[in-house]
Amino acid sequence: MKTLVLKVNPKKPELEKIRIAAELLRKGKLVAFPTETVYGLGANAFDEQAVKKIFKAKGRPLDNPIIVHIYSLKQLYEIASKIPEEALLLAKRFWPGPLTIILPKKKSIPDVVTANLKTVAVRMPKHAVARALCKQAALPIAAPSANISGKPSPTSAKHVKEDFYGKIACIIDAGRTNIGLESTVVDLSSKRPVLLRPGGVTAEQLKKILTELEVHAVAKAEKSVSIAKSPGTKYRHYAPEAKLILVEGKKEKALAKAVELAEQHAISGLRTALLLIDVKKDMALENVVVKRFSTKLSAARHLFSALRELDEQGIEIIVVNGIDERGLGLAIMNRLRRACSERIRV
Ligand code: TXA
Ligand code: MG
Repeated sequence: MKTLVLKVNPKKPELEKIRIAAELLRKGKLVAFPTETVYGLGANAFDEQAVKKIFKAKGRPLDNPIIVHIYSLKQLYEIASKIPEEALLLAKRFWPGPLTIILPKKKSIPDVVTANLKTVAVRMPKHAVARALCKQAALPIAAPSANISGKPSPTSAKHVKEDFYGKIACIIDAGRTNIGLESTVVDLSSKRPVLLRPGGVTAEQLKKILTELEVHAVAKAEKSVSIAKSPGTKYRHYAPEAKLILVEGKKEKALAKAVELAEQHAISGLRTALLLIDVKKDMALENVVVKRFSTKLSAARHLFSALRELDEQGIEIIVVNGIDERGLGLAIMNRLRRACSERIRV
């Protein structure tokens, strides 16, 4: 298949280019597009056949439901059957933005989108390109992250091309995404609000609006619990080709252990990298590739691209230090716990 790549201005997307992509969506084709979190692989959410193409292209298990992206609050009423007060409060505070809300669904959304669940996940993205595309298509857009299932999510069009060039109709290239981790997912479909996936909006921010919020065990990814409510959480995610070892514990101790392990693996002859999260001081180690992020914000923004880059360099072992779960820390730890093949506690 020929893939049309449209380079657009991330802040002021050229209308004529967005119209081409919107028309492809309306014809039932797949279009990859940037959002403020990660790139999405979009299809017309009302078109069952088009949505099936997403599952096929990604190799995504059919029991993993997809987020529906909207442009206006009016569209929310077209796809959700019950919209509680809390949903409107959250929408007012965080939309457009990196928050996904789960609500009871209307029949307008085909079952394939929601993997036969009675609920639908909805998000109003903030990225100017995503907004322009939703507006021009005049459709809700079903879109998971634009990566082959199991791989790190794409934060640039380059990543999307690696996985889908020649396999989908169109890729909109607007450079790097800003937040770098996927949206926060909150379930408002039952009595109490539940945080299912931490992301760009923090649990602390949500608690300022919601009087109660249960942080589900899957949000921490503490152990590999799976729940019927969010089937996607049972699959391993974000995994690089390299073996990723996560060292958790008090900051200084975890850091010291991560350094020790990286040095040991390097001495044993393996191509080794050390990923430092929220570490202010520079560090150089012999025969170890060191990638350091000095804040949680920059770690979130660059984590997925760092994992892909280390794979490209042929790294065999990546050791990473765990951090505290405050603010973006919870989202970062969730991704690391789900991406790693080994967890060590010190
Ligand atoms: O930032 C994001 O959310 C990106 C951009 C493209 O918007 N999208 C994204 O989609 O991360 P995806 O498919 O990679 O992750 C969606 C998550 C999955 O864990 C899925 O299981 C969950 O949301 N989900 C979707 N619909 C659901 C539903 N009805 N009930 C519970 N969980 C749902
Ligand atoms: Mg994904």
